[in-house]
Amino acid sequence: MVTLIVGSQWGDEGKGKIVDLLSAQNEIVARYQGGANAGHTIVIDGKKYILHLIPSGILNDGVKCVIGNGVVIDPIALTKEIEMLSQNGIDVKGRLFISHKAHLIMPYHKLLDQKHESSIAENAIGTTGRGIGPAYIDKAKRAGIRIVDLLDRQSFELKLRQNIDEYNKILTKVYDTDAFDPEQIVDTYLNFDKLIDPYITDTTSYLNNAISEGKNILIEGAQGALLDIDHGTYPYVTSSNPTSGGACTGLGIPPTAISKIIGITKAYCTRVGQGPFPSELFDEMGEYLRKQGDEFGSTTGRSRRCGWLDLVALKYSVMINGISEIALTKLDVLDELDEIKICNAYTVNGHQLKYFPVDLPTLNNIECEYITLKGWKRSLKGINNFNDLPNEVKDYFKIIEDFTGAKISIISLSPDRNDTIIR
Ligand code: GDP
Ligand code: IMO
Ligand code: MG
Repeated sequence: MVTLIVGSQWGDEGKGKIVDLLSAQNEIVARYQGGANAGHTIVIDGKKYILHLIPSGILNDGVKCVIGNGVVIDPIALTKEIEMLSQNGIDVKGRLFISHKAHLIMPYHKLLDQKHESSIAENAIGTTGRGIGPAYIDKAKRAGIRIVDLLDRQSFELKLRQNIDEYNKILTKVYDTDAFDPEQIVDTYLNFDKLIDPYITDTTSYLNNAISEGKNILIEGAQGALLDIDHGTYPYVTSSNPTSGGACTGLGIPPTAISKIIGITKAYCTRVGQGPFPSELFDEMGEYLRKQGDEFGSTTGRSRRCGWLDLVALKYSVMINGISEIALTKLDVLDELDEIKICNAYTVNGHQLKYFPVDLPTLNNIECEYITLKGWKRSLKGINNFNDLPNEVKDYFKIIEDFTGAKISIISLSPDRNDTIIR
């Protein structure tokens, strides 16, 4: 059975925690898009791990982890992550499989990302600066360098020199930086090749064989649906498809292989970086959620913008992803509130919107309508049966389920693996 985990909002919904938890029932966990822009946090017995590229299943002994063709791989970030795991007694040898079709992030991608962002100043997207956009640009422009290219030194050098020639001109003439030295990059990447050689595989065949054998596979999305390059709040998005469709292209598996799609949803909303956020709170309540939820980015440390749960956006996410089940995270952050609000309608210039809009002028002019619910005013820690939850929590769930049509099947009550209710 293949289960797909997607972020249903703007990322950082708690995908890492839920993937880690569900990994125990799966033989393989696979990432299909994004790169080291992701930061997936897992807490086990008080010890915190942050993964950027390696799937969140790696902390479960025996689980095999795949980095699919749709992921853009930064060798430096990957090397650091393998080292971090090794220092914590986790050996990825024989457990990590990297697609030979995946594209590489080069040093000039990261610099171009950062320079482009600073050059557009107030229109900046607020990227993570990890070179994601420029790497996917090279992929789409058919100039990208793939893992497989590392295997043929001559062709690797040829491609690299062509790219560096072009980008050095842009970097020195447009952005006024120093030029990159191709020799140095060749050396760094050929050293990286030695390190990752044992992990390079045809992951497409590996996964399809596993599917034919009926193995349980978990697919881990990075980012979230509203950051999707096609379906998100463009241009304030990432450069890949975090939505469920991206899993098929990003791994080379057929849509018919996917049995279940679980949307990871925070009990409120957050967003890092710029871009529309209809239910954003600019008052003390926003500050409260940030503090209580410890809403600071796991990749860049930036503080996350916070707001109430947005059901109009969530329903859109449920639709475009095919989400049948929701894992609701960070419910504990709302424990002490007297009242909890949920956005259940949008209006623009006094007219109600029946859909999630795609254009910036409309997105930026949304006014949210809210329903107000009574808080449960107690800690839910220790509850492990759905039926034992207070009625106020059940009322809150019913509104989400009725509005979106998806069922809340997992409820997360703390960063720790153990504080989770499976319904
Ligand atoms: P991801 O990118 O979707 O994996 O999410 P992040 O790891 O970037 O951010 C989620 C943060 O919330 C992390 O610090 C998690 O440890 C934490 N977290 C996850 N689930 C819960 C929960 O149910 N309650 C609380 N308080 N924190 C949680
Ligand atoms: P996880 O997997 C939250 C945001 C950035 C920026 C936009 C584009 O941890 O949920 P990029 O570097 O991708 O070009 O930046 O996307 N962003 C994320 N926000 N969680 C993430 O990943 C993100 N990855 C990128 O802040 O607004
Ligand atoms: Mg994150």
